[in-house]
Amino acid sequence: MSEAYGYGKVILFGEHFVVYGIPAIAAGISKKTVATIGAGDKPGIEIVDNRPAVEGYKEKYAEQQEESVGLMGPAFGVDFGEKPVKITLGGELFCASGVGASAASCVAIARAISGYFRLGLSDEKINAIAYEGEKAYAGNPSGIDNTASTYGGLVYFVKNFDRPNTMERPVLKAPLYVIMASTGITTKTKVAVEGVRQRKEQEPEKYAGLFKEAEALVAEARKALEEGNAGEVGALMAKNHGLLQQIGVSCEELDGLVDAANSAGAVGAKMTGGGMGGYMVALVRQEDQDRISDELTRAGATHTIKAEIR
Ligand code: MEV
Repeated sequence: MSEAYGYGKVILFGEHFVVYGIPAIAAGISKKTVATIGAGDKPGIEIVDNRPAVEGYKEKYAEQQEESVGLMGPAFGVDFGEKPVKITLGGELFCASGVGASAASCVAIARAISGYFRLGLSDEKINAIAYEGEKAYAGNPSGIDNTASTYGGLVYFVKNFDRPNTMERPVLKAPLYVIMASTGITTKTKVAVEGVRQRKEQEPEKYAGLFKEAEALVAEARKALEEGNAGEVGALMAKNHGLLQQIGVSCEELDGLVDAANSAGAVGAKMTGGGMGGYMVALVRQEDQDRISDELTRAGATHTIKAEIR
């Protein structure tokens, strides 16, 4: 038996724009998906999914999970027909769209297989394999989710088209306290990303302007994070939410939770991840975390996660 994990993640700035090479900032959160692996009793890689999840999430993604495992399999150089494995997924990460659940599962599965067969794969290799697995869920993912899931901590990420993606580690002056709140709506990232692609093609000028704004915003956000200017970070999150609304990936439920967080005194709030449902994230003062989490539940959140980012 061998056990392995992948972190859940929160995108603080730049989701969707990151697919096109604009930098983005994400963080791993302490809630993880854990994979336990042992010998299987039928050829191949069998997955038993015991993760806690929003209703319908696992059913909606079952086919993609199978496809994802199929995409990762060849990278290990193991004949799973001869050496079958059974991987049980669990852990504390509550799975819903927007928290990197698919990436966390890919990373945990890759680490479990590496550990079980003593392959000694580096984090870089695990990240690359998880990226292949993510393709089943996100189509042509930027790679930010699997990167945050592999390494944890704060990640400044750039998808490059002519060379490997780059990751930097900005250092926070002070820890950040966030609440992630789920709308309970499961949306496929692939669908949200494809919608942006189509609208961008239909309105190139509008989108060029929005992409410029997004790029400038992430640069300002990085500076504010490194300077420990939480007020500015919050204001930029609000601005980022506005941009995501304009590219059509927010929804009434996400906007409602963002408004509720702001009314309850959050420093800033935005949707996070693929959108059209899934999670939002609010930056809050440490002493307000419990209270605002409760307010978000009252406002309709089906699940909340309180996290500290360092
Ligand atoms: C999803 O968590 C983040 C997106 O930007 C897609 C991606 O980066 O691959 C929407």
